[in-house]
Amino acid sequence: MANEDTPDASPAEKLPESIAIIMDGNGRWAQEHEKPRSEGHREGAESVRAITRECARLGVKELTLYAFSTENWRRPEPEIFLLMELLKEFLIKERAEIMDNDIVFRAVGQLDRLPPEVYQEYEATRDMSARNKGMILRLCLSYGSRQEIFEAAKKMATLAQKDPEAFEALEPDDFRSFLYDPEMRDPDLLIRTSYERRISNFLLWQISYTEIFITKTHWPDFRESQLHNALADYASRERRFGGLIDEEVV
Ligand code: IPE
Ligand code: IPE
Ligand code: MG
Repeated sequence: MANEDTPDASPAEKLPESIAIIMDGNGRWAQEHEKPRSEGHREGAESVRAITRECARLGVKELTLYAFSTENWRRPEPEIFLLMELLKEFLIKERAEIMDNDIVFRAVGQLDRLPPEVYQEYEATRDMSARNKGMILRLCLSYGSRQEIFEAAKKMATLAQKDPEAFEALEPDDFRSFLYDPEMRDPDLLIRTSYERRISNFLLWQISYTEIFITKTHWPDFRESQLHNALADYASRERRFGGLIDEEVV
């Protein structure tokens, strides 16, 4: 385990290129602090800022954050409204930081379900950062993995009709080209805060061989040192992808 104040807990060669995070526990954080849930979400937005900055500084190539699921539309209207307001605020306020850190900003999900004024701010931030060269920050918004896979299957069916030869030539890995972001790397490390041991409809196809780190820390308390701990844990793992590490003799 990493020392809490080690700045670069993970050796560079074992730094995950791509990290995905299920940012959970804003409500429980608020409850523990005897505050309204809204305060948990506000404090959670601060963690997004801190973790984004730190991942960019460490040299992570892609950071994918689960910010709002398709199932989260089931929440009470006032909570959804607040989350959309916070999102809009983030998209506007973080532009300078995104540009200063050379970050490419993208969102994936059923974005047409977002309120138009939120979508407009998203487009502005995405377009402004499109030619940056640094880390990709990908926000999963109104995102559901089953919906993503279903939509991908439909796109493939369309290709089968329009261009049967191209369809026949597809390899299993080409499936990613039908997903929301065809350029997305499979995450090396998936972090879930607040200790639920489930995937909650997140990146089902992409995490086939991802290392999973689940922590009791609620998302608003997940900052640099907690990230360093997760990275140190990741660095200690042996990834096998079904094979053997050395040519062991049976
Ligand atoms: C994560 O925190 C934020 C979103 C899902 C939008 P929660 O709001 O799920 O917090 P808990 O799980 O109730 O503690
Ligand atoms: C997962 O958290 C979705 C996000 C973090 C955006 P939830 O709080 O919605 O997940 P469940 O309902 O506990 O599975
Ligand atoms: Mg939750």
